[in-house]
Amino acid sequence: MKKNFQKILHCLILSCILIEISAQREAAALINWKESLNTASLPSWNLSNTSGSPCKWTGISCNEASSIVEIINLSNSSLGGTLNRFDFSAFPSLTSLNLSSNTLVGEIPRGIGNATKLIRLDLARNNFTNSIPIEIGNLLEFDMSLMNQIPSQLSNLQKLQLLDLGGNYLRGS
Ligand SMILES: *[C@@H]1O[C@H](CO)[C@@H](O)[C@H](O)[C@H]1NC(C)=O
Ligand SMILES: *[C@@H]1O[C@H](CO)[C@@H](O)[C@H](O)[C@H]1NC(C)=O
Ligand SMILES: *[C@@H]1O[C@H](CO)[C@@H](O)[C@H](O)[C@H]1NC(C)=O
Ligand SMILES: *[C@@H]1O[C@H](CO)[C@@H](O)[C@H](O)[C@H]1NC(C)=O
Ligand SMILES: *[C@@H]1O[C@H](CO)[C@@H](O)[C@H](O)[C@H]1NC(C)=O
Ligand SMILES: *[C@@H]1O[C@H](CO)[C@@H](O)[C@H](O)[C@H]1NC(C)=O
Ligand SMILES: *[C@@H]1O[C@H](CO)[C@@H](O)[C@H](O)[C@H]1NC(C)=O
Repeated sequence: MKKNFQKILHCLILSCILIEISAQREAAALINWKESLNTASLPSWNLSNTSGSPCKWTGISCNEASSIVEIINLSNSSLGGTLNRFDFSAFPSLTSLNLSSNTLVGEIPRGIGNATKLIRLDLARNNFTNSIPIEIGNLLEFDMSLMNQIPSQLSNLQKLQLLDLGGNYLRGS
């Protein structure tokens, strides 16, 4: 009985440590991306302003029990720059990413395929170039600005439920 209790306690402590490590990784990834942006709009994103967790930062929502980032909503937040330094693999529980109505440019990185829980992605009303990476295959819904062609691989997205390509200048088939 006592041994079992110790085992459970040990597991609880271990999972606390693991949660803390992933929260720190998420915070570091967000700061790293912020430093690459032209923005003055995220003053709360500051490592000295948290207890190692980004959950109280502007636009970030976490799972209450585990303090892991689930939603990032930075719609209309005056963000300029690229997604090149956004480390998608740092967010294993991210389900929704909304970066609509900013002035982001460049390509949508292939690393987006590493955010394996992502089901809602809104990149509309930015200035992204080029096409959708096929790594986007796990997503269920997305909404984005595209200037070019729709890749034929899009027909492989068997889980896709909603695709909104409104307000674009699409060419080709
Ligand atoms: C810390 O975050 C709070 C809430 O977002 C913000 O009001 C405050 O200015 C931040 N402080 C620093 C030092 O960044
Ligand atoms: C974080 O907050 C501290 C204390 O307010 C400030 O000195 C520092 O410049 C801030 N760092 C960033 C990256 O905004
Ligand atoms: C997302 O952010 C925008 C801009 O700050 C805000 O208007 C909107 O209510 C937010 N949406 C959600 C679901 O929090
Ligand atoms: C973006 O925010 C500004 C104010 O900061 C507001 O006037 C504008 O209507 C917003 N645009 C969208 C698309 O939400
Ligand atoms: C984004 O595109 C719009 C419309 O094409 C243009 O007016 C704006 O200057 C562009 N912004 C950036 C940051 O490239
Ligand atoms: C996913 O993450 C791994 C490890 O960080 C990295 O090596 C890989 O290149 C990433 N995948 C993509 C498609 O970027
Ligand atoms: C992203 O945020 C905008 C502004 O709040 C909202 O209109 C839009 O529906 C959101 N997109 C998703 C996929 O939730």
